[in-house]
Amino acid sequence: MDKERNVYRAHCLVLAYPAQGHINPMMQFSKRLEHKGVKVTLVITKSISNTMHKEATSIALETISDGYDEGGIAQAESIHAYLERFQRVGSQTLVELIEKVSSSGCPVDCVVYDPFVPWALDVAKKFGLLGAVLFTQSCAVDNIYYHVHKGVLKLPLSETEILLPGSPPLGPQDMPSFIYDFGSYPAYFDTLVGQFSNVDKADCVLVNTFYELEQEVVDRMNKIWPLKTIGPTIPSMFLDKRLEDDKDYGLSIFKPDTDTCMKWLNGHPKGSVVYVSFGSFVDFEVEQMEEIAWGLRMSNRCFLWVVRESEEEKLPKHFVEETSQKGLVVRWCPQLKVLAHEAVGCFVTHCGWNSTLEGLSFGVPMVAVPYWSDQSTNAKYIMDVWKMGLKAPVDEKGIVRREAAEHCIKEIMEGERGKEIKKNSFKWRKLAKEAVDEGGSSDKNIEEFVTTLVDSLS
Ligand code: UDX
Repeated sequence: MDKERNVYRAHCLVLAYPAQGHINPMMQFSKRLEHKGVKVTLVITKSISNTMHKEATSIALETISDGYDEGGIAQAESIHAYLERFQRVGSQTLVELIEKVSSSGCPVDCVVYDPFVPWALDVAKKFGLLGAVLFTQSCAVDNIYYHVHKGVLKLPLSETEILLPGSPPLGPQDMPSFIYDFGSYPAYFDTLVGQFSNVDKADCVLVNTFYELEQEVVDRMNKIWPLKTIGPTIPSMFLDKRLEDDKDYGLSIFKPDTDTCMKWLNGHPKGSVVYVSFGSFVDFEVEQMEEIAWGLRMSNRCFLWVVRESEEEKLPKHFVEETSQKGLVVRWCPQLKVLAHEAVGCFVTHCGWNSTLEGLSFGVPMVAVPYWSDQSTNAKYIMDVWKMGLKAPVDEKGIVRREAAEHCIKEIMEGERGKEIKKNSFKWRKLAKEAVDEGGSSDKNIEEFVTTLVDSLS
């Protein structure tokens, strides 16, 4: 134990919610902590670990059971049943893991957890450990759910303009889908509002964003609890030599088709490719997939489109063969390497928070096609606040039609608005990098977090 203590400043157990969009920021934050001399054990569920593609990384990985070891949430009878059992079984298996890890020579000092699993804080407190919550969505979105939690924002929404401290005026459609479509996913709604159930008891509140990006709302929320912005948690954003080769998160729900993608991109001129991806979860209607496919075709641009295996049947018949001169369709790609590639000039995205931060940090202008959850709020900010892209308009059925997709892509790639957006994208890229570079706002906050942690041990 003493030997380990001499090597590490402290030991954090980092518990991720089992979804790609939650594991990635936790994994990357873990690497940042290790970079600052903290030992980290990253914890995911057994079920998701069994299916994940793992790259070599220095981070120790452990698993706990969510009660559904064979299939995770897909095995559960409902989202509610899954979350309920995950809390019950997870609380117990987390206790066992902390005991096991601590007895093997390096006692755990702190549990960093996703607010989707607030019960992890109770487990940390049982052991007398520090508990730090890491919010994995934007501060703007956290602010909205906080006001629902406080009963300030009443649901269902009745106003046409929602005014919240720290946010610009928002329309109902700019709100997270679980709010404007109140009642659609009660279990997820409860989870998102429940993020604040015990946050007052957390020793530290961390958010995956950077101060310069969300200054106003961060300042507002800072008055409630001291917030530490620690993002963007993106690999290859560091200057440090030790991390130069860090180009990936390290854990992927599917094996990325890296060689095919990079070879293909290498054959395309700077800024000429439209990269299209809707993350790990989006389940568009067939009609929407067809409209996107037609829009891409009509834009007459080269494109790289990630279509997960489960979505392939939704593509128009013969689309892949008929567009093979212009396009490449893959089941999963190394998104960071793709966004960092100079051939990519536009990112058609569902605006998951990770994709949004990644697009912004690599300076790639975006066409926003939000699907659900926090994505419409992120899309609103992309277009109107950060001015980093265009939100594709929808028709009365809520579908982005082919003409709208085509128009947005062309506008970004060659239009007047595209020029302004590109200018802004350089600005955001620079600010994101500065935030995580040594001495930047996020780097300082991580350093402060580690210092607090280490001081609490002496
Ligand atoms: C979900 C929610 O949808 C999102 O809104 C929430 O903020 C976090 O959890 P997801 O839909 O998967 O996540 O989207 P996103 O947050 O963008 O995360 C996807 C991650 O997968 C990104 O980090 C992206 O780089 C990665 N990815 C995506 C790949 O590595 N390869 C791909 O082909 C596609």
